[in-house]
Amino acid sequence: MSEAPVSAAPQWWRDAVIYQVYPRSFADADGDGMGDLEGIRSRIPYLARLGVDAIWLSPFFASPQNDAGYDVSDYRAIEPRFGDLDDFDRMLETAHAHGIRLIADLVPNHTSSEHEWFKAALAAGPGSPERARYWFRDVDAAAPDTPPNNWQSIFGGPAWTKTEDGKQWYLHLFDATQPDLNWENPEVHEEFQSVLRFWLDRGVDGFRIDVAHGMVKAEGLPDTGGDGTIEMIGTTLAPFFDQDGVHDIYRTWRPIIEEYEGDRIFVAEAWTDSAERRALYLRPDELHQAFNFDLVLAPFKAAEFRKAIDAEIANNAGVGAPCTWVLSNHDVQRHVTRYGGGEIGLARAKAATQLLLSLPGVVYVYQGEELGLNEVLDLPAEVREDPTFFRTNGEQIGRDGCRVPLPWTREGDSLGFGAGGSWLPQPADWAERSVEAEDGVEGSTLEFYRAAINLRKGLRGSVTGLTWLGDPGDDAFAFDNGALVCVVNFSDEPVPVAGYGTEVLLASTPLENGTLPAGSTVWFAK
Ligand code: NOJ
Repeated sequence: MSEAPVSAAPQWWRDAVIYQVYPRSFADADGDGMGDLEGIRSRIPYLARLGVDAIWLSPFFASPQNDAGYDVSDYRAIEPRFGDLDDFDRMLETAHAHGIRLIADLVPNHTSSEHEWFKAALAAGPGSPERARYWFRDVDAAAPDTPPNNWQSIFGGPAWTKTEDGKQWYLHLFDATQPDLNWENPEVHEEFQSVLRFWLDRGVDGFRIDVAHGMVKAEGLPDTGGDGTIEMIGTTLAPFFDQDGVHDIYRTWRPIIEEYEGDRIFVAEAWTDSAERRALYLRPDELHQAFNFDLVLAPFKAAEFRKAIDAEIANNAGVGAPCTWVLSNHDVQRHVTRYGGGEIGLARAKAATQLLLSLPGVVYVYQGEELGLNEVLDLPAEVREDPTFFRTNGEQIGRDGCRVPLPWTREGDSLGFGAGGSWLPQPADWAERSVEAEDGVEGSTLEFYRAAINLRKGLRGSVTGLTWLGDPGDDAFAFDNGALVCVVNFSDEPVPVAGYGTEVLLASTPLENGTLPAGSTVWFAK
């Protein structure tokens, strides 16, 4: 276990920059074409230089990888493709030695079908205590092909699959290899409390909770309205999402994490239909943060951003929790591409990131956005791995395009990702977006991120809130956060900004004669 010389600042997590590492795609040390923990360890100095406070690591537990690790077969073991527990300890120690905290990714809504519990449930048969850990229901002899309700898997197709003997159905909100756990069963509670302690004892600084709004299902498993189709990244109400009972689980988890020193945290991935409902997860006896995906869903428009920012600030203030700001992650199209791609997409993406870094609260950065990476839209079907692609027969291309391994060097096998190729092919023009190509280069996206994150760090403690100032144009806004003045131009025309300050701290695109170019952000000293 490591001593953590990480920041002693109280409640570091209230204004942190947290970097998401997607283990399969970050760096590959053993040359098998897939990233690993040793690869991550070797790049910790890069993350320290970027200036991030913590990394959130997508799941690294033993898993058949049918959903890229969100299908866990053993919550206390490392996936062999990523390394072993010794590699984990070394990685954590290196992160802590560089002042970087580590947040693990807990997947409590479902296990893998390869988990011992599910294998035991299949072996034990209907009515057994083993089956009571999951949601099994009898097949109705009069209607053998009609599932117990109309729920659809979030990855497409029905949310129920029959056991091989055809006698029962089991529920899976995601892939058929991800059976949902039954959180009405006390054994499930005990097991996850023990898993929390296992990783807390090993020194992790917190957990991101996968599908944190999904564990409790409405009494009687009633049909959804409509045809049962639910988007993962959406806000539709459903009898399996955001049920009030889910909060009782977090009230049992909070005292556990508080037993450990070091200001450790829980972060919820909770899709709710409003910022008000999201804030409920953040009451003082529940979780510390919840991802706010409103800016992932918002078009690049001043009015939409402003509405989402105001809602998050108002609702989180009510429960005393920090706001969180997210533009990209491993489930959504990268924001460079969402904003139009090419030069304009990149300019807007940088503008949006700079805006986020001046808002009060916590900013999440997804690996590769600091290089200006775009979504890879043209991956051939034969290399795709996302179950969404297969379960919708290719109708939805899925999420592989944001999971393409990072380019570290201009040349070489897999652009420096590893010595054994890369599990998804990288576009050739990523050579010029590699760390090597951008490192130390004035005007590069990487240097822009470094400057913005480090400037923000220097202003820590002076950001007191957000006061809107008069707008500089129709599709532009300005605010004062107590430490600086931020002006964002969402429009396609330059806007005059001379009235907002004289000393430019940072601009995502250089100002021209007192105007801020289209799709740009500037910070002025106060
Ligand atoms: C949300 C995760 O972010 C996503 O990648 C995963 O497929 C689902 N939860 C299911 O675990």
